[in-house]
Amino acid sequence: MKHFSLLFIFLVILLATSYSDAFTRNNFPKDFLFGSATSAYQWEGAVAEDGRTPSVWDTFSHSYNRGNGDITSDGYHKYKEDVKLMAEMGLESFRFSISWSRLIPNGRGLVNPKGLLFYKNLIKELKIHGIKPHVTLYHYDLPQCLEDEYGGWINRKIIEDFTAFADVCFREFGEDVKLWTTINEATIFVIGSYDQGISPPGHCSPNKFINCTTGNSSTEPYLAGHNILLAHASASKLYKLKYKSKQRGSIGLSIFAFGLSPYTNSKEDEIATQRAKAFFYGWMLKPLVFGDYPDEMKRTVGSRLPVFSEEESEQVKGSSDFIGIIHYLTLYVTNQPSPSIFPSMSEGFYKDMGVYMISAGNSSFLAWEATPWGLEGILEYIKQSYNNPPIYILENGMPMERVSTLQDTQRIEFIQAYIGAVLNAIKNGSDTRGYIVWSMIDLYELLTGYTTSFGMYYVNFSDPGRKRTPKLSASWYTGFLNGTIDIASQDTILLQSNFSGSSSL
Ligand code: NOJ
Repeated sequence: MKHFSLLFIFLVILLATSYSDAFTRNNFPKDFLFGSATSAYQWEGAVAEDGRTPSVWDTFSHSYNRGNGDITSDGYHKYKEDVKLMAEMGLESFRFSISWSRLIPNGRGLVNPKGLLFYKNLIKELKIHGIKPHVTLYHYDLPQCLEDEYGGWINRKIIEDFTAFADVCFREFGEDVKLWTTINEATIFVIGSYDQGISPPGHCSPNKFINCTTGNSSTEPYLAGHNILLAHASASKLYKLKYKSKQRGSIGLSIFAFGLSPYTNSKEDEIATQRAKAFFYGWMLKPLVFGDYPDEMKRTVGSRLPVFSEEESEQVKGSSDFIGIIHYLTLYVTNQPSPSIFPSMSEGFYKDMGVYMISAGNSSFLAWEATPWGLEGILEYIKQSYNNPPIYILENGMPMERVSTLQDTQRIEFIQAYIGAVLNAIKNGSDTRGYIVWSMIDLYELLTGYTTSFGMYYVNFSDPGRKRTPKLSASWYTGFLNGTIDIASQDTILLQSNFSGSSSL
């Protein structure tokens, strides 16, 4: 009898373990959305066609020699082919962005009929194939004319222009678009663009790493961040007043979120991690949920941090129906001086945050190590600290050297580990409603051009026809989405051996 009960316990443990490890798409709620993504400048190409005018991203990429998005994957001409690939893959949702300067070439005013037609056609094609669009309004590509006119996101004039652009999008596409993200990875966009100078429009204070021609890293990131929150809130208010009751969609802001964990179990590292969370997550999430910036930020940044008027605070609070999370890496945080992965600038966001950060996994530009517990930590933290809002994981994926192999097994392992993390988080009560792989196909990458890519489809950028070829990850995601691949089973190994014969570039 005793032996029998021990065996029984052993079997229960075994079953419990394999249950938490092995899962298929069917373990997720039916209305959970699995998808993949691109963004306008990285996918469309056709930068000077049919009335589009330059964005700050065109200007920025042409100012250095890491390639540009002039043609890139040529999504503008090949969107039908790409939607067909998405449908064959069983994609439930496609996240893409709208090029503001293609739709409204002067930044405000007249709508470009050809730009409008392109997005209408794309959305129609997705609808025909039963794929739900998730539209990002702003993905790093401000019309250059608005940057030239008043300095873009560091000027409050942007709020009115962004709202008018959003109005056109809601009016023209809202019948078929139920998920809107206003601004892509708002936090890191501001840090990259106004603190570090590594993304358009490339502002930073004079420093020994990057030669920016203009900027002020100690004030501009906070100013741009503030205007982003106000522009988002204004577009969200408009949507709710004018469109939501008819169109029944949701609108959210997305932030970039590193997983953050204390380096040691010392009290100091715990406090440092809380501070890093306040800066990286709370900066945008606290205003969106509670109407004001975190106390840690107010204390350190002082008068350089803009102040919300009572009316603004009310408008920003509750303006996000969901939170978009863009997640790739996890960092250990410490208070002890140690070689941090970020260059130590003499002023700006990282200086203000005042912590040291060490990568939790190998994270060179090639083949990142998966640290899925980092994502679980973010989802748990947001659940506990911000009233468990609905969440969409808007980007997750892994870069690999582009012209190496189609057998991107490491990418599959990475993605499946993170999908597992999302499932665990849901089981623990997180209201996460979607997961989107970055990226559907190879694209122009902002920091690395065409040397590395995240795509599940290989694009031959030397071929004028920009031929697409599936990588192993495309077959894997297809199998996962149609429920035939069981994670943590032999399925992936089988897929890999079937694929090897036909996988040369
Ligand atoms: C975030 C950005 O949204 C996207 O444009 C970029 O290509 C990926 N991360 C990868 O770096």
